[in-house]
Amino acid sequence: MKVLGISGSPRNESTAQLVQAVLAATGLETEFVSLAGRNIGPCVACVGCVKDNVCVVKDDMAELRGKLVEADAFVVGGANYYSHLNGLTHSFLERWYQFRHQEGGAVVGKLAVAVGVGGMSGDVVADSIETFMSYNLVETVAKVWGQGAACCFTCGHGEECKVGAIHMFFGPGTKITEDIFPRLSKQPEVLEQARLAGHLLGERLRNGHDRQKVAQGVMAKLGARFKEAG
Ligand SMILES: Cc1cc2nc3c(=O)[nH]c(=O)nc-3n(C[C@H](O)[C@H](O)[C@H](O)COP(=O)(O)O)c2cc1C
Repeated sequence: MKVLGISGSPRNESTAQLVQAVLAATGLETEFVSLAGRNIGPCVACVGCVKDNVCVVKDDMAELRGKLVEADAFVVGGANYYSHLNGLTHSFLERWYQFRHQEGGAVVGKLAVAVGVGGMSGDVVADSIETFMSYNLVETVAKVWGQGAACCFTCGHGEECKVGAIHMFFGPGTKITEDIFPRLSKQPEVLEQARLAGHLLGERLRNGHDRQKVAQGVMAKLGARFKEAG
């Protein structure tokens, strides 16, 4: 059993740390991949993958495809940019479109944990990742989110900038000190969420799961959502 963790933040900071915390709690073989520095563009809707479920766009996604096919489960993390899933993670997840054609089975029925990090909160990000997983008929067994440091903490102008996170969160005149620097190590409840999520994922995998049944469950939930939306 192998769990693949992916951090979709362009930085190797809180998202990467939180994904790794979930991985560590699975008790299974894991691999961690950061998308930082990788060139992964959005799906261009060329439908070049329709015959064989292999994306034809030439960039760094090609190398990751094999890892996604091989893994039994995923821990996918993204960052909150403008109250949305950050672009790099979005592009990466759009490219899972290659697995969808003609009931391609590469990821269908697998399990996932969704991880979100934001300067304020990452819940919107974890929800977005869950939605992507649902469309691929992957079950999100748990969602974890926490607070990371906005770039304003380290850009060099955070204390003066009137439109930055320091003024916004703490008010004008605030000094950037270790006390206000958001680090995951200061968020024990988030690390506990990560531990529980990783443990649950590990348990589900160790107990064995019928991928067809998992896919049917996700499909039923999606159907109910569509009905509700009218
Ligand atoms: C372009 C940009 C937009 C952002 N917008 C938001 C936002 O709308 N809400 C929020 O909570 N954090 C926002 N942030 C802060 C990030 O979510 C925060 O820095 C987080 O720690 C990023 O994850 P990382 O530490 O793994 O890189 C933004 C950051 C950037 C670079």
